[in-house]
Amino acid sequence: MRKKIVAGNWKMNKTASEAAALIDGIKKEVADVTEVDVVVCPPFTNLQVAAAACAGSNVKLGAQNVHWEASGAYTGEISAAMLKDLGVEYVIIGHSERRQYFGETDETVNARTKAALAVGLIPIVCVGETLAERDAGNMEAVVVRQVKAGLNDLGDDLAKVVIAYEPVWAIGTGRTATPAQAQEVHALIRLTLAEISDGDTANAIRIQYGGSMKPENAKELMSQPDIDGGLIGGAALKADSFAAIVKAGE
Ligand code: 13P
Repeated sequence: MRKKIVAGNWKMNKTASEAAALIDGIKKEVADVTEVDVVVCPPFTNLQVAAAACAGSNVKLGAQNVHWEASGAYTGEISAAMLKDLGVEYVIIGHSERRQYFGETDETVNARTKAALAVGLIPIVCVGETLAERDAGNMEAVVVRQVKAGLNDLGDDLAKVVIAYEPVWAIGTGRTATPAQAQEVHALIRLTLAEISDGDTANAIRIQYGGSMKPENAKELMSQPDIDGGLIGGAALKADSFAAIVKAGE
């Protein structure tokens, strides 16, 4: 039985002091939750404050990106070891906004994933098709390519990865994939995982849904057999709505 995982992707929102307040609110609301892994992913500048706020609670800390090199002359970048040292446990990799605006490719997703795993961070690897790709009948090809290339050559570490299926057309649009639409792609992802590993590994890997997930639709989405949690944007910026989604996963 896969344990559900609900993560908040704060994107470029919240100052450090706002982050501490939001985490305090989330901690209170989810204090009794044991059946769902709860993760918050604030901007880099908030990680130190967030680590202190999360300490001793059931709220885990994630980052939103990581560079693939261990160190060196890469102005503006952040290494996996820097994240690990702050108490970060998860890192989002290959979000569609990074693919769309910052030149992220399947190859850089793969390099970042390997760097994260090398220091013991759990990568949350994002995949998902655009509306144009879906309308052109290319959803399957795009998602399968992103899974195979992004997770290429991870060996036994593949089992540690979390995948987030985020159809780009559902992100920030209020237009959620229907539970059936999401389940179809999650099953496809699990089938693809079985192709590149084995049945046990494919069965153990958690696949989150992301894209306009809210308290009102979270339970039905997470009741689907292959939907193992959520990656939440807008609704993760308030303690009550984020906590309600977490509880919908119980
Ligand atoms: P929204 O929940 O705001 O649609 O964002 C989803 C997302 O991109 C999470 O990574």
